[in-house]
Amino acid sequence: MTIEEEIFYPALEGKIEEDLLKEGYVEHDGAKTLINELEASGPDEEYYDAQVKVLSEQIEHHVGEEEKPRVGMFAQAKKAKVDLDDLGQKMEARKKQLLAVAKASGLPEAELTTMDSANH
Ligand SMILES: [Fe+2]
Repeated sequence: MTIEEEIFYPALEGKIEEDLLKEGYVEHDGAKTLINELEASGPDEEYYDAQVKVLSEQIEHHVGEEEKPRVGMFAQAKKAKVDLDDLGQKMEARKKQLLAVAKASGLPEAELTTMDSANH
């Protein structure tokens, strides 16, 4: 989600439907909220399993929106001649950096982009 929000989504700004892009950010925040919650709790928590299930459903939905034929984000980006190969390389490089940080020191709590976090 970080590499999409840092690199992919900004590159689509003005090139694909604004509504779709905004929904993408909000869907990321929904997933981040659940991930933060799961990171802070454990399998013994009453709602843990339900949260894992809903998270996986949300991610499936989100990926579906990105990859939907003709109207999805990727399809619209291709139509708008966005250089997806170039973006892919940049995202891959950033992903490597982030994974190295995660391995070395762990990742901080995910920051929400479109709403205030209820966790603070
Ligand atoms: Fe995404």
